Amino acid sequence: MTATPAGLASSPLLGVYKPAAPVFVGGRGCELIAEDGRWYLDFTSGIGVNALGYGAPDVQAAMRAALETGLIHTSNLFRTRPGEALASRLVAAAFPSQVFYCNSGAEANEAAFKFARKWARLAGTDGRHGIVAFQGSFHGRLFGSLAATDRPGYRAPFEPLMPGVHFAPVGDLAVVEAILSSVGVAAVIIEPVQGEGGVRPVPAEFLVGLRALCDEHRAALIFDEVQCGLGRTGNLFAYESAGVTPDILTLAKPLAGGLPMGAVLVAEPIAAAMEAGDHATTFGGGPLVAAVAGVVFDRIADPTFLAEVHARGEWLGRRLALLAASRPGVRDVRGRGLMWGIELEAPAAPVVSAALEGGLLLTQAGATVIRLLPPLTISQRELERGIGILEEVLP
Ligand SMILES: Cc1ncc(COP(=O)(O)O)c(C=O)c1O
Repeated sequence: MTATPAGLASSPLLGVYKPAAPVFVGGRGCELIAEDGRWYLDFTSGIGVNALGYGAPDVQAAMRAALETGLIHTSNLFRTRPGEALASRLVAAAFPSQVFYCNSGAEANEAAFKFARKWARLAGTDGRHGIVAFQGSFHGRLFGSLAATDRPGYRAPFEPLMPGVHFAPVGDLAVVEAILSSVGVAAVIIEPVQGEGGVRPVPAEFLVGLRALCDEHRAALIFDEVQCGLGRTGNLFAYESAGVTPDILTLAKPLAGGLPMGAVLVAEPIAAAMEAGDHATTFGGGPLVAAVAGVVFDRIADPTFLAEVHARGEWLGRRLALLAASRPGVRDVRGRGLMWGIELEAPAAPVVSAALEGGLLLTQAGATVIRLLPPLTISQRELERGIGILEEVLP
């Protein structure tokens, strides 16, 4: 066995991540505890996953109850109740006629592309397989979802990716129309609030315009709510505030309380185009994850819970705007609900490190944007504590 070459990490984990130093061993509410006994206030929620925080009694009870059945997985060769029950609730709460389960956000978007293409093909327009995506988008790291992701650095080492993706600027309907008029497009995909691309809410009128263009050109409209969906914006679904519904909606991160789960909500004509064998995943929608997701969904879908998220978000937005006004190093603050970005004049990494030192976990959305994604259950006091630490570290 040769020694690890100089410069290569000695970790047994593949070096695709650069984790911060603390090693976490537990969590309670909106805080994590590290091996050395230090507590950290979490404004990342595991990148938007831990919407109900850590150790939520109802989530833990659902996990225990599901474990008691002994039925963690059956595969989709057989029926189980929790996934069917959750799908009924998703159908009742939104526009779709049917739901497909998978295991992550990227998988949900890949499935959405396949569903749109099959539907477009059945509509008798075989060549209509293109996808329109937007500048600043992030849809995942698999070959189709990465092809629709506007991050040249993430894409370049792995090209060629899925062909047929056309990028347009957010806000420019004329460019979208020109693409739809000149090439065959099966689907237009957009995040109603862009996450990784810098926390950028998409104007409602642009979503309304996309809806009209997709109707006119018979393209499927996909809303990627993997990060901004399920209560994050103060609405159950982020698209609600725009007053338009998509044909397909993708969900993942917070859906199953930290267990891996994605879902694709599919409207009638597209759902009807899918047949047995057209798509599948071994793990998707297993009884354990679906049982937990049912509890998470019911908590978040409660109007009182959503009103609380909305109110906290309003307060946070006002507070961040005040903070930004007094900081020369802050270029912009933007967001909705409990999803906010603070754009700096300089790189965000040193600020994220300083906040960690101060006991606050933050993440970035691009080189110069600090992203705040606290658990949706965060209290007013905890928000104030987090802002206090931000005040110390922001330039
Ligand atoms: C909007 C959006 N779509 C898709 C993804 C990909 O999700 P996953 O990492 O679960 O594949 C992400 C992840 O950050 C995301 O923010």
